[in-house]
Amino acid sequence: MKLFIFLSFCLTTVTAGNTTICTSGFTLVNNKCWKLYSGPANHTIAERTCTNVGGTLFMTKNAIDNRALASFVNSGGVDHVWMGLFCIGNDKSFCYFDDQKGSPTTYSNFAPGFPNSGVGRCVYYSVPGSPGGQWINGDCTEQLAFVCELPPTQPDICDFNFNNNCYFRLEEQTFSTAQQECQQMCGNMVSIHSAEENRYITSIYSQYSYDAIRIGGIATSKDFVVWTDGSIMDYSNLEVFGSSGNCLWLSLLTTDYHSKGSWFTGDCSTPKHFVCKRPIGDLNCSATPPPPTPAPPTPPPPTCSTGTYMAPGIITSPNFPSQYRSSCLYTLATYGSNKIRMTYNYIYTYSSSDSIFVYDGDSADAPLLDQKYGNYGNTLQTVTSTGNTLFVYFRYSSGATSYNGFNATFYSVF
Ligand SMILES: *[C@@H]1O[C@H](CO)[C@@H](O)[C@H](O)[C@H]1NC(C)=O
Ligand SMILES: *[C@@H]1O[C@H](CO)[C@@H](O)[C@H](O)[C@H]1NC(C)=O
Ligand SMILES: *[C@@H]1O[C@H](CO)[C@@H](O)[C@H](O)[C@H]1NC(C)=O
Ligand SMILES: *[C@@H]1O[C@H](CO)[C@@H](O)[C@H](O)[C@H]1NC(C)=O
Repeated sequence: MKLFIFLSFCLTTVTAGNTTICTSGFTLVNNKCWKLYSGPANHTIAERTCTNVGGTLFMTKNAIDNRALASFVNSGGVDHVWMGLFCIGNDKSFCYFDDQKGSPTTYSNFAPGFPNSGVGRCVYYSVPGSPGGQWINGDCTEQLAFVCELPPTQPDICDFNFNNNCYFRLEEQTFSTAQQECQQMCGNMVSIHSAEENRYITSIYSQYSYDAIRIGGIATSKDFVVWTDGSIMDYSNLEVFGSSGNCLWLSLLTTDYHSKGSWFTGDCSTPKHFVCKRPIGDLNCSATPPPPTPAPPTPPPPTCSTGTYMAPGIITSPNFPSQYRSSCLYTLATYGSNKIRMTYNYIYTYSSSDSIFVYDGDSADAPLLDQKYGNYGNTLQTVTSTGNTLFVYFRYSSGATSYNGFNATFYSVF
């Protein structure tokens, strides 16, 4: 590891002062890093391509950036490009940016009549027209060019440079030794504050086959994480809160117990690989915690016939844990290129006439992934989507009145 740090030092040109740069061959435009991929690719492939370099599809959140995108793309001779926006309804408040920050209710440039999720839940940017640069819903299977976006950063001697932080991969240590090693580098064990950062940390281990690494948090409950760098908990991907310890591990593989990218609690003393993080340029150890990011608005709670549940969350049969007496429909969605993993905590129904059907899309027209009925009690059962929606239909047709149905938890995974 020491040799690696030394080599990185020798190979990196250090520039003094505040020079904003883009990594991975991206171009700096208005303080954003963009790269045009002429594709064409469907929305899923476009998202995955961006994720693989630690980014997202581009997002423009003001008129200046929105115009800049047109000139940027025009030089590549492309008319339509996928953007990092996804709509689950026909109002801007039902559209979500892939970085889960801000909302199109603040700025948007939809063409007249849009958003219209009936046309498609994915959104593309149309370069021509007057005015140009309008946003239009499209079917996610359409093949288009796309632009990926990375946060800009500053030059520094980092193993990995992302969004104004340096990240370093280190060899196996216990939690407390790992934290000491990070402090010697003017950093802390990594704290994770967004889905993008979580994906980025996962991506820097893509050539390794480790099952999990340590991250710098301690979970005091299923809902609360304390970060060793003192930063605020403003994002969580904690999937399993267990009994073997409170230190957080980040899963790098999908197994029967954990999904890739999810966090779980484990013991603090087993040596594991880990990541240190320090702010760019903070070689004198005066680290200040990163500021919290604003959360997107919360849409009204769904009912059995309308609305969408955004991951993570819990769905249950009507009346649970009391007996069910009616059917129910649930649309589950997550952001960008993530998938949904749903785990049943409990299943007890009368017979196949009272079944839970799970479809791999946003309606019962999508392929059926799974049907469950009968008594599984508390034996965990899991279903994972291929795209970013799952449709669940709980059918009650037996007339039976003494069964309590199901309870399932769902998470965003990738
Ligand atoms: C350098 O960046 C810091 C933090 O972003 C900022 O406060 C400072 O004004 C910048 N200095 C110059 C010379 O641009
Ligand atoms: C996107 O394209 C890939 C590769 O061609 C294909 O496997 C996948 O099913 C497509 N997905 C959608 C939603 O069209
Ligand atoms: C870091 O510390 C060195 C030595 O004490 C000092 O010369 C330098 O100006 C400091 N740099 C910053 C950015 O505070
Ligand atoms: C569903 O199951 C989870 C995990 O067992 C539990 O925490 C939650 O309270 C249950 N929800 C309801 C509505 O019973």
